Amino acid sequence: SQPRIVVVGSANADLVLAVAHRPAAGETIVSADVVVMPGGKGGNQAVAAAKLGGDVAFIGCVGADAPGAMLRERLVAAGVDVRGLRSIAAPSGQAVILVTPDGENSIIVSPGANAQVSTALVAEVADLWLGADVLVVQLEIPLETVEHVVPRAHARGTRVIVNAAPAAALPAAVLAASDPLVVNETEAEAALAARTGQPRPGVAAADGGPGATALDLLALGARSVVLTLGAGGAVLVERGADGAAGTPLHVPAHPVAAVDTTGAGDAFVGALAVELCAGSGLEAAVRRATQVAAFAVGRRGAQASYPTRADLVIN
Ligand code: RIB
Ligand code: NA
Repeated sequence: SQPRIVVVGSANADLVLAVAHRPAAGETIVSADVVVMPGGKGGNQAVAAAKLGGDVAFIGCVGADAPGAMLRERLVAAGVDVRGLRSIAAPSGQAVILVTPDGENSIIVSPGANAQVSTALVAEVADLWLGADVLVVQLEIPLETVEHVVPRAHARGTRVIVNAAPAAALPAAVLAASDPLVVNETEAEAALAARTGQPRPGVAAADGGPGATALDLLALGARSVVLTLGAGGAVLVERGADGAAGTPLHVPAHPVAAVDTTGAGDAFVGALAVELCAGSGLEAAVRRATQVAAFAVGRRGAQASYPTRADLVIN
């Protein structure tokens, strides 16, 4: 049967190191705690959606190695359909993640097998994603693959969530199908600077603040926009039936003591996919997604920190 939510994207083994501070050039520091955890923005989003009860498939590549086996096993354990997951002759994607006591992280990604998530591969498994209710993509796989699936899925009536992470400029055909385009502040600035050729002041410093930035992002051509603001919550804006921009709406974050923010944005996107698939409006979906992201921020790791519906006391 066809899965209702399909995530096309990356899977990484995350080497998570707790550190007192980020090392400076030439400095050696000690991490008191090191763990390997399943990650990668695509895998994280698929697991987040599945843990919330979504009917989810993941399309991507891992290596035929121990990290690849771990990543596959964790997707399966979360209930994700892995018919579109290939184990190939390349090292699995890996990320080195430094987490400081404030819960903030610095991440280095080595794409490995994720670089082989090609248009040829997604074309081979088109029966998995063509005609799905919701398609979710991010930018840790080749951009040409994103450019292949997004307009085709949209043309078939699929709701497409485009998470422009890590930060990059997006082609017009991808923007035109983005409903919503989901970005954080850094990613928003990259998307906008690429279009105008001008660096912008930070989102908070921009005239009009996050609402104005969300409208600027919508003007790039997206059908709707969700700008995430970490502890500041999120701003969303949609087009009306006539295509005109609506009024930006701010959704506050749930207050939480940050333990590890790694993958909280991915939990947000996964939750958004489940809510939109269930027929919620964008505002209701963003409210639920902020709740899910807050839960993830309060616990260590990415996938390991994601809630089930029971964890959220919702049905
Ligand atoms: O968004 C968090 C993720 O980014 C981590 O799991 C890491 O693998 C990188 O892809
Ligand atoms: Na977390």
